[in-house]
Amino acid sequence: MRKPKVFVTREIPEAGLKLIQDSCDVEIWLEDLPPSKETLIEKVRGIDGLLCLLTDSVDDIVMEAAGSRLKVISNYAVGYDNIDLKCATKRGIPVGNTPGVLTETTADLAFALLLSAARKIVNGSNYVRENKWETWGPKLLLGMDIFESTLGIIGMGRIGQAVARRARGFNMKILYYDHKHRPELGKESSAEICNSIEEVLRCSDFISLHVPLNNETRFSINRESFRIMKNSAILINTARGEIVDQEALYDALSHKVIAYAALDVTTPEPLRGDNKLVLLENCLIVPHIGSASFRTRNKMAVMSAENLLAGLTNEKIPYVVNPEVYDVLQS
Ligand code: DGY
Repeated sequence: MRKPKVFVTREIPEAGLKLIQDSCDVEIWLEDLPPSKETLIEKVRGIDGLLCLLTDSVDDIVMEAAGSRLKVISNYAVGYDNIDLKCATKRGIPVGNTPGVLTETTADLAFALLLSAARKIVNGSNYVRENKWETWGPKLLLGMDIFESTLGIIGMGRIGQAVARRARGFNMKILYYDHKHRPELGKESSAEICNSIEEVLRCSDFISLHVPLNNETRFSINRESFRIMKNSAILINTARGEIVDQEALYDALSHKVIAYAALDVTTPEPLRGDNKLVLLENCLIVPHIGSASFRTRNKMAVMSAENLLAGLTNEKIPYVVNPEVYDVLQS
């Protein structure tokens, strides 16, 4: 029997690849950089399944190029803003993601960024490397206390709640905004729900973003948001770069409208070393490593392989982001 043909857009951990290789005819893109759009279009022709990354834009053109055999798209990420979901659904293609497994790992990074920004860890490390450390200084690298300060969480989904649990251990006051206004989500970490994002921005010392990127959230943290925040506020973004108006962020940081930003995600990605935001002393940027632990990336590989394999055998995929596709497929 013919094995299903699959294209995997980068080398994911072995735990997932092995599962796919056991039953599929697989082509893996082995380069360090993602395939270009033209290459992706060429590679998907005639495939049955696609396992892609957040660096691959999978739009109507790619799906059209793949053709009518394409049965499943499995994204190696929890976010799926790189995939044109409407178009996949219209074409009857289930799309899978990797929810849950990266919650704690991403929350760890958000909290690590919070700690690093508050206590200027990277600035301190650079100071030593640059041979500037001459003596102990009463005013050297002063930062913000974390304990008993206020953390504002925008988006109280799984990752937002995991960040809140960590904040609890630091005796922080926690405020949050949830677009579905679910007060029960704050119970576990004694977090208080707010009626608006503005209220969270106004009252928080640290603001951590945990919303998905969509038309509602794109640039939702903008010039006006920075004006509302405290001058001492620290912004943490481990969600998606485009949630923040980056030009407005640059202005806010360089004019000290807010104190500091720590970002795992930017627009675009990558940002080059000479980018003006990267060069700011009060901006810490890491290269989208929220889920980058050995254990979590392995689990993501297995999960995305399971989604792919289920789709290839016409089973309902375990982590589907467009469940309505099954109505389309039945009709
Ligand atoms: C995701 O999964 O959406 C993260 O941004 C990458 O780990």
